[in-house]
Amino acid sequence: MPGIRSLRANPNRLPSIVGFQESPDDRTALAELTRLRAEIDALRATRTFRWTRWPREAYRRVRNIGTARRRRVAEIGTADAPTSLFATPRVVTDVAGCDFYHSIDLPENGSVDGQWDLRPGIEQYLGGVKLSGKRVLEIGPASGYVTMEMERRGARVVSIELPDSAAMFNAYFPVAGIDLTNATTHLELEDRLRRLHNSFWLVHRQFQLSAQIYYGHMDSLPEALGVFDVTFLGCVLLHCPNPLGMVLSCAERTRETIVITDVRSISADAPDRQGHPVCVLYPSAENREVHTWWRFSPEFFSQALPALGFGDVTVTFHDQLHAAAGATQPLFTVVGSR
Ligand SMILES: C[S@@+](CC[C@H](N)C(=O)[O-])C[C@H]1O[C@@H](n2cnc3c(N)ncnc32)[C@H](O)[C@@H]1O
Repeated sequence: MPGIRSLRANPNRLPSIVGFQESPDDRTALAELTRLRAEIDALRATRTFRWTRWPREAYRRVRNIGTARRRRVAEIGTADAPTSLFATPRVVTDVAGCDFYHSIDLPENGSVDGQWDLRPGIEQYLGGVKLSGKRVLEIGPASGYVTMEMERRGARVVSIELPDSAAMFNAYFPVAGIDLTNATTHLELEDRLRRLHNSFWLVHRQFQLSAQIYYGHMDSLPEALGVFDVTFLGCVLLHCPNPLGMVLSCAERTRETIVITDVRSISADAPDRQGHPVCVLYPSAENREVHTWWRFSPEFFSQALPALGFGDVTVTFHDQLHAAAGATQPLFTVVGSR
């Protein structure tokens, strides 16, 4: 039991359940911890206190507290996380206040154009994974077309999206000479994200989605979000400073399957590089790119996922319509299952 080792090293460090979403179990555990602390203090006051004298019964109770906590995490994983974590749906009725990342057929407005039209190839984009009845974590839903398609396939979706505030600057590459914190740029970027969020909420309302959204950064996700059956990362890792950290963080929260869809690129996926786990830095002094950090080879993920315990891996290739460029873009999807 890991708690016991740390207890031996430092008697004051009892297994912590601080910051954990309190349940009746947790309250009992907290009361028990407080009682045990008093018991330890009393023992220490006798001066004959030794850790070997820690009563067997006390070990058992501390172990039970750990078990109760693990049981609670498992419960949160199967139930929904507390609703207070999630954003209150924004009432958006006007498409004019939205920026659409995805082209989508809206029930009230018909077809609207976005940067990407994933409609013809959505099944390949999702890696063909069975989603019915699954609790799904989606990182970076943008306008929510993929959220809607996952929900249509029977998933209960929790999406994580960057907030429309200064926190989003963590996601940009700091190219010299481009001041992203300059007030005008800042307002422009916030406005762009607000309009993107609007598109999500408009899609959410028109399709009557149940998907919940947490606005925050992947680096500090609350434990109370729980665990998921499937995690979907669609064209998001290329925009993240620490893509492997993100995959690790998702792996910790995923019980069954991780799906990673990303852009194919000659710089990472050329014939002479195939078979190698390649991650190429994209921004340079010449292209002055702030938004895209990386290009990956599919092997980068098909090697990482089994190492993280998702040993059953498939890689597929598909083309999707990059409507903004008026051309198709090759992509890959890596599906890793435990
Ligand atoms: C290129 S879009 C992909 C949209 C969608 N996942 C898809 O596959 O069509 C990237 C999305 O990820 C979001 N994003 C970028 N970095 C993020 C982060 N660290 N945490 C959560 N979302 C992030 C962006 O705001 C944007 O909505």
